[in-house]
Amino acid sequence: MQIRAAVVREIGAPLAIETVEIDEPRADEVLIRTAAIGVCHSDLHFIDGTYAADLPFVPGHESSGIVEAVGADVRHVAPGDHVITCMSVFCGECRLCLTGRSHLCDSPAADRAADDVPRLSADGTGFGQLYHLGSFAEKLLVHERAVVKIDPAMPLDAAALIGCAVTTGFGAVVNTAEVPFGSSVAVIGCGGVGLSAVLGAVASGATTVIAIDVNPDNLELARRFGATHLVDASTVDPVAEVQRLTDGGVEFSFEAIGRKETAEQAFRMLAVGGDATIIGMVPEHQLIEIDASELLFEKTLRGSNMGSNRFRLDMPMLVDRHRRGLLPLDDLIADRITFDRIDEALDELRRGRVARSVVVFDHDEG
Ligand SMILES: NC(=O)c1ccc[n+]([C@@H]2O[C@H](COP(=O)([O-])OP(=O)(O)OC[C@H]3O[C@@H](n4cnc5c(N)ncnc54)[C@H](O)[C@@H]3O)[C@@H](O)[C@H]2O)c1
Ligand SMILES: [Zn+2]
Ligand SMILES: [Zn+2]
Repeated sequence: MQIRAAVVREIGAPLAIETVEIDEPRADEVLIRTAAIGVCHSDLHFIDGTYAADLPFVPGHESSGIVEAVGADVRHVAPGDHVITCMSVFCGECRLCLTGRSHLCDSPAADRAADDVPRLSADGTGFGQLYHLGSFAEKLLVHERAVVKIDPAMPLDAAALIGCAVTTGFGAVVNTAEVPFGSSVAVIGCGGVGLSAVLGAVASGATTVIAIDVNPDNLELARRFGATHLVDASTVDPVAEVQRLTDGGVEFSFEAIGRKETAEQAFRMLAVGGDATIIGMVPEHQLIEIDASELLFEKTLRGSNMGSNRFRLDMPMLVDRHRRGLLPLDDLIADRITFDRIDEALDELRRGRVARSVVVFDHDEG
């Protein structure tokens, strides 16, 4: 079957929407008609080459859709089911899965083998699927354990954001850092991921939630989501400002940008015993520096991968939170655009625009 997909053939070149062949689902695979795709900064890291991926590949990893066909062994979903995709494809059997860290599983079944028939191809060339998904496409062919079934009453545009940004930001606070009630929290970078961390901090009962960004519109959204203090890092030193606001530093900080300086700021703005979580994808192989003597004060610096999710549990919970009016995902959507405009959305992200652009498909066209 032929579909349209956005393909990266060359780093730095505009994305070309091409017609590609998509294979039939194998026994453990699911074919999905894409409903909506969020444009995440992680896609941009691979498209712009700050992170490496084999070319050519289809980017995209924040998506929702409707199941069209399933392989013979698939039990979790059936045609017609509404789903969210997740890059955290798990095997259920490895040491990481069995010790409760399935988000770190590197399941070999997530992709087809290199010498197998590719899921996506054109003229005999196979295309990689970024993060085992390749969501920038009209249809997705993925492993069964890359999807979770959701309530069909959930709007699929907001559902797409749960596929990465919300699970990542909210999860970094509640699952990775396990922020207790009454804590002080700072979030550096209030794009889709950082704003979701603000929502997680508010949901956790943090009493001080400091949002830091350089874009006043993003800070205003953070305020609406419950941030108690806003810091414009283009006008003040965010570390000094956080120390001033908290009388010495925050208990928990989260970096949601992916830069050396801001990752270092996250550690430097901690109180004694504080805990810094780096969510942002700092460029591959970039070293970051901390003052080692600060470790004597039991400060922690760590990473978070996809909000340490167990997405088959977490995503329906986040859907339910949205349905009950407790997760304002519609406010996170800055723009609903057609698939043809995906390259413009990537440009907007490069320029640091508000929250998320979401591609919404009108499948009446085919
Ligand atoms: N760890 C994970 O599992 C995971 C998952 C998803 C995304 N990410 C990463 O998280 C990061 C954020 O993703 P996003 O999609 O929200 O990005 P985004 O581009 O939408 O948001 C980044 C925000 O940071 C702000 N910013 C830029 N420079 C700043 C500075 N010096 N000080 C303060 N604020 C600044 C921008 O104005 C923007 O609001 C990216 O690096 C992305 O790759 C990581
Ligand atoms: Zn595993
Ligand atoms: Zn993402």
